[in-house]
Amino acid sequence: MSSYDVIIIGAGPGGYVSAVRCAQLGLKTAIVEGRETLGGTCLNVGCIPSKALLHATHQLHEAEHSFAKMGLKGKSPSVDWDQMKAYKNEVIGQNTGGIEFLMKKNKIDWLKGWASIPAAGQVKVGDETYATKNIVIASGSVPSSLPGVTVDNDAGIVVDSTGALELPKVPKKMVVIGAGVIGLELGSVYARLGAEVTVVEYMDAVCPGMDADVQRAFKKILEKQGLNFVMGAAVQGVDTTKSKAKVKYQPKAGGDEQVIEADVCLVATGRKAFADGLGLEALGVALTDRGQITTDAKWATNVPGIYAIGDVITGPMLAHKAEDEGMAVAEVIAGKHGHVNYGVIPGVVYTTPEVATVGATEDALKAEGRKIKIGKFSFMGNGRAKAVGQAEGFVKLITDAATDRVLGAAIIGPAAGDMIHEICVGMEFGASAEDIALTCHAHPTFSEAVREAALVCGDGAIHA
Ligand code: NAI
Repeated sequence: MSSYDVIIIGAGPGGYVSAVRCAQLGLKTAIVEGRETLGGTCLNVGCIPSKALLHATHQLHEAEHSFAKMGLKGKSPSVDWDQMKAYKNEVIGQNTGGIEFLMKKNKIDWLKGWASIPAAGQVKVGDETYATKNIVIASGSVPSSLPGVTVDNDAGIVVDSTGALELPKVPKKMVVIGAGVIGLELGSVYARLGAEVTVVEYMDAVCPGMDADVQRAFKKILEKQGLNFVMGAAVQGVDTTKSKAKVKYQPKAGGDEQVIEADVCLVATGRKAFADGLGLEALGVALTDRGQITTDAKWATNVPGIYAIGDVITGPMLAHKAEDEGMAVAEVIAGKHGHVNYGVIPGVVYTTPEVATVGATEDALKAEGRKIKIGKFSFMGNGRAKAVGQAEGFVKLITDAATDRVLGAAIIGPAAGDMIHEICVGMEFGASAEDIALTCHAHPTFSEAVREAALVCGDGAIHA
């Protein structure tokens, strides 16, 4: 029986990053993955392919809406959807191939197949059983649907995020259930491709839990881009005919059930932990009532030698949260002090403009009775944003009123997903708004808006 120090189950961003760190720390490591390619949901059917489609359709949107006024005249490009999907698949291939290279470079064995855990200290893949001192479960999550809604990605009428990346053609009408991250990113893709997109959302605001100012601005901007919203609407079920979906919803305000017909219905109502086939019940691994694996502060389950990280445990279902846990658990297994600061995990929506948040929200802090200061700066006062025609949105910094320490931030605007990290680093170092305000920021950059928001917390912004 081959034996390892660590076997990691699942090669998504949590699993493969953990494997690399384990190998770097001198542990004999294997990773089990049943898909044909490494990278998990993120690289194969999630973050990366959706970003390829968002990029391609953003270029189209720019050509249609911005080129002429910049003096770029001529016919707008037409859409070859099959070629766009081929581009997306090529991007996936480059990325998954890169992970395979990383496994080889770090001498990590890829055990191909679906794993089960017959007992602590053993992992079974196909007919082979491997001995291992430690097991890290990084088996991720899968889309979760609604009662009364049957997803059939092959039929292409009621689809989840995976099916939405491979539609045979661009629908004329699309209904998206759920105004969360997936609904808004993929809804944007299809709206830019010319589909009439209606997003049906149970809550009264998009992206539940996000800063309320950003929620309002975000929805308005998306409406201007052509997305329709039906808010406060609980979807009850979806009926299908051969080529149509009929989405039934109940307005929360009361009244009769409503129906919207569409060529495609995208179900984007969240994801759920995935640990099928591992044999956790027989092992006695404790789960939450939502089916997530329960872990302690060091990612250990209640069964000695078995750890779990990423979407399969509690916390935000984000690739980078899983990556951080992957590195930290490797360090714990190697006898070091792995740590993740859950108070500083950014969240990004890759629409145009991007939305990025970190730390506490204004509403949450006010509910705690905390005295805070808000520094808000509009991209209308940012020269670079105006030069590239992306001056919609703002930076909002939230600080402690007494100490000036940065407690959270929300950005809606160009490159928000990259700019947020300046604030993350600041928060990790316990920065005050004054620290950010006193840091020289290159001109002309979008990041100057972060500094201006910090200046608002002091004696005032310059360009407001
Ligand atoms: P989500 O939890 O972000 O949003 C789901 C939405 O569906 C919520 O607004 C909810 O109120 C609504 N909803 C639920 N039931 C409904 C009903 N019956 N009728 C109407 N609306 C209903 O879930 P989403 O967008 O599916 O994303 C899943 C996970 O994947 C999230 O944890 C997300 O953070 C992650 N993700 C992150 C990305 C990123 O970081 N850019 C990209 C894609 C996914």
